[in-house]
Amino acid sequence: MPVNGNLGNISYVLCAVLGAVPALNNMGRLTLGTLVSYLNLNRNFTQPVTQVSQQLNSVIMALAGAERIFKLLDQQPEVDNGYVELVNVEQQPDGTLTETPQRTGLWAWRHPHQADGTVTYTKLEGDITFDDVDIGYNDEKIVLHNIKLFATPGQKIAFVGSTGAGKTTITNLINRFYDIQDGKIRYDGQCQ
Ligand SMILES: Nc1ncnc2c1ncn2[C@@H]1O[C@H](COP(=O)(O)OP(=O)(O)OP(=O)(O)O)[C@@H](O)[C@H]1O
Ligand SMILES: [Mg+2]
Repeated sequence: MPVNGNLGNISYVLCAVLGAVPALNNMGRLTLGTLVSYLNLNRNFTQPVTQVSQQLNSVIMALAGAERIFKLLDQQPEVDNGYVELVNVEQQPDGTLTETPQRTGLWAWRHPHQADGTVTYTKLEGDITFDDVDIGYNDEKIVLHNIKLFATPGQKIAFVGSTGAGKTTITNLINRFYDIQDGKIRYDGQCQ
């Protein structure tokens, strides 16, 4: 589009300069009036060409947008193969935790045991452990190998490293924005 627009401007300037010399010097039969009319026609010719290129630009941008929209629509739903859930709980006088639908501000990991059908509640503390975690954005290329780290509740940790070292990747894993290839990420000892 800019190339097209500038070609139009260049042709306008060339015609004006090359036409002005004979018109002002009474060379040939070119008058100033003819030159001005010609320059107007020149502009009228290049304008629609520029408009078409602008429209083409919009069509190409729309196609690129549509591609991303369809890519999003084609996304497979995430697999939730976990069975441990975060639930609101109340603490009884004897210290046991009972699940409640009310917002108590107290959270616990609800862990149903498939073997005997019992359910245990583990109070949410905010303890995070990575055990030999491997992560790759695709299966062919693992970007982080055997990551071991832990964070105790309230602990402040700084991730330092060169660009591409994996700082953002690790932070995103804590929120489970991606699935890991191998290893375990535990919250208060519970697997995701
Ligand atoms: N969405 C993605 N798809 C594929 N590979 C990715 C993606 N995001 C990051 N990577 C790759 O994972 C590795 C770690 O990248 P990450 O963004 O975690 O690094 P970083 O330490 O946060 O870098 P920076 O300091 O630039 O923010 C890099 O090799 C990067 O190319
Ligand atoms: Mg980053």
